[in-house]
Amino acid sequence: MPMLQHFLLAFATFGSALAAGSYPSLKVRNAGVPVGQFKNVSGIQIYHSYPPGRNTSAKAILHVTDIYGVPLLENQLLADSIASNDYLVIMPDLFAGDAVSDAEQEAGLNLTDWRALHPMSEIDRIINTTIAYMRSELGVEKIGGVGYCFGGKYVPRFLTASGGIDAGFIAHPSSLTEGEISSVKGPLSMAAGTLDTAFNATAKVRAEAILNTNNVTFQSNLYFAAPHGFAVRPNQSIPQQAYAKQASFIQAVTWFDSWL
Ligand SMILES: *[C@@H]1O[C@H](CO)[C@@H](O)[C@H](O)[C@H]1NC(C)=O
Ligand SMILES: *[C@@H]1O[C@H](CO)[C@@H](O)[C@H](O)[C@H]1NC(C)=O
Ligand SMILES: *[C@@H]1O[C@H](CO)[C@@H](O)[C@H](O)[C@H]1NC(C)=O
Ligand SMILES: *[C@@H]1O[C@H](CO)[C@@H](O)[C@H](O)[C@H]1NC(C)=O
Ligand SMILES: *[C@@H]1O[C@H](CO)[C@@H](O)[C@H](O)[C@H]1NC(C)=O
Ligand SMILES: *[C@@H]1O[C@H](CO)[C@@H](O)[C@H](O)[C@H]1NC(C)=O
Ligand SMILES: *[C@@H]1O[C@H](CO)[C@@H](O)[C@H](O)[C@H]1NC(C)=O
Repeated sequence: MPMLQHFLLAFATFGSALAAGSYPSLKVRNAGVPVGQFKNVSGIQIYHSYPPGRNTSAKAILHVTDIYGVPLLENQLLADSIASNDYLVIMPDLFAGDAVSDAEQEAGLNLTDWRALHPMSEIDRIINTTIAYMRSELGVEKIGGVGYCFGGKYVPRFLTASGGIDAGFIAHPSSLTEGEISSVKGPLSMAAGTLDTAFNATAKVRAEAILNTNNVTFQSNLYFAAPHGFAVRPNQSIPQQAYAKQASFIQAVTWFDSWL
């Protein structure tokens, strides 16, 4: 086929998918105005980002954030970017209005004290409430979980036989234990960075071995020169970090397109 016809055919396919409002956008948004909406659900502020042209989807994503939480622009844009690939994305405030801000961190916030205010039992409760809301109020049938940093511990906790998450993606998880990885039953994709000490290359290899032994469908990538937090807030002027965010975004979307 001549080149021009190839091009026209490709363009026609692209155009008709766009017209249907469902052509996926595999470019993660790093700047701009978020398009989602907050709703108060049982006292939890939950950010809702809708798929193009619809307000729900049978397969939806639960976004479990880092410590910067729902106020962070990058977190809202990340949720929106996943939503534009045809998923309803639901991102609960895990910290009851007490997410960490850059200003607090610059002023020397003691993170040990902050973590003590947001114990695992409370985070588990919020995630459980959110999963129940997705299934009963929003009519979601399958839930994909994305977890970044702090949230990377919680997706595996609920990707179990009865936890309620059906497929997961985690990037640079914090405080993730081998016991939690051992309890994973659903498909799991992992993104690690060579500069991350919270989930380093050794921890990644251990996780792979556990999942493989347990016959859990998994996939993982190690991003060179990527520090903790790269999938959310990389330094965009460092090419390896910008690449790691973009590539790990595609990693997540491709994972759910195949396994959710
Ligand atoms: C959310 O709704 C609850 C009642 O369900 C109310 O007590 C609470 O103040 C509301 N929170 C916000 C932040 O609006
Ligand atoms: C979706 O739209 C329907 C019909 O307009 C409405 O009843 C429902 O509450 C909406 N759901 C959400 C999550 O906004
Ligand atoms: C944070 O506070 C704890 C006590 O709650 C203290 O032991 C620790 O040294 C503090 N950390 C820093 C970095 O100040
Ligand atoms: C979530 O709630 C269910 C009951 O709806 C309970 O059985 C389960 O233990 C809870 N999970 C966590 C991690 O809190
Ligand atoms: C990862 O961390 C563990 C324990 O903190 C350490 O033993 C191991 O050598 C580290 N691996 C790499 C590749 O840095
Ligand atoms: C392992 O998983 C594969 C794919 O889901 C399945 O076909 C196979 O039967 C499983 N093997 C065992 C030993 O459970
Ligand atoms: C990002 O990286 C550039 C180039 O190395 C550096 O000049 C800049 O200070 C970094 N920005 C932040 C916020 O760390």
